[in-house]
Amino acid sequence: MNRCSQPSWFSLKEWPKNVRDREAYVDPIFTTIAAKYDFMTRVLSFGQERRWKTRVVRLIPKNGSLERILDLASGTGEFPLLLRHAGLEAQIIGLDRNPTMLGVARQKCARQPEINFIQGDLMQIPFKDHSFDVITMGYGLRYVVDIRQTLQEVFRLLRSGGRFVSLEFGVPNNHFYRRICFAYLLLLGSFWGVVLHRKGDTYWHIVESLKAYPGQETVGKWLKDAGFGKVEVREQLGGIITILSGTRP
Ligand SMILES: C[S@@+](CC[C@H](N)C(=O)[O-])C[C@H]1O[C@@H](n2cnc3c(N)ncnc32)[C@H](O)[C@@H]1O
Repeated sequence: MNRCSQPSWFSLKEWPKNVRDREAYVDPIFTTIAAKYDFMTRVLSFGQERRWKTRVVRLIPKNGSLERILDLASGTGEFPLLLRHAGLEAQIIGLDRNPTMLGVARQKCARQPEINFIQGDLMQIPFKDHSFDVITMGYGLRYVVDIRQTLQEVFRLLRSGGRFVSLEFGVPNNHFYRRICFAYLLLLGSFWGVVLHRKGDTYWHIVESLKAYPGQETVGKWLKDAGFGKVEVREQLGGIITILSGTRP
């Protein structure tokens, strides 16, 4: 069995390797779950989700010089909202490929000044070099076919001294604990998949993507390869959740 094997009673799909297949698989999932996404992140994490996101926000330097923040894979706009609630006055742009997720984000942030959302892809981010002081990303890296390319894009977009902070699932090193985590995600995901969408496998993509994810240590190394300094990998809950950060020198 490979490092990320899952309980055999779930027949998981192989995580699509090329861009087209991955888009064709992932986009309809987020279109289906958009309205329930915030609820699901809370139940799957037993309410820990907000705590982890708040930790990400705390890693952002709160000085008056922050002018522009980009939130990648912005989804339903949780990070832009938290950043604003934390008192950051910068202009915030959320980018995501899925129009339905963006629709929820726009509704949630409608009363917030200077939060805008655009549709775009993580592999080719449509902004000029050095456009941002801070870039955040929540659960986005597992979805891109070439994580290194996205990290290079993030590096390109940051000004010197700019910070990147990413919240992502992780792959725990301990084999037994990893199996428990994956089984938990599959069982609870299946339950809520049936209850919310009448489709048990709606949330299996989380484990499917994790089985193909290179893991936090490797992504931390890729951050350094992309040119980032002060790279830190903070594991939560034994490594099933990680906060990766780096600064452009
Ligand atoms: C799990 S959600 C994360 C939402 C939000 N950041 C959060 O932390 O709750 C992942 C998001 O990534 C988006 N996504 C996946 N692949 C993408 C890509 N290649 N380019 C842009 N967005 C992508 C999906 O549409 C989805 O909204």
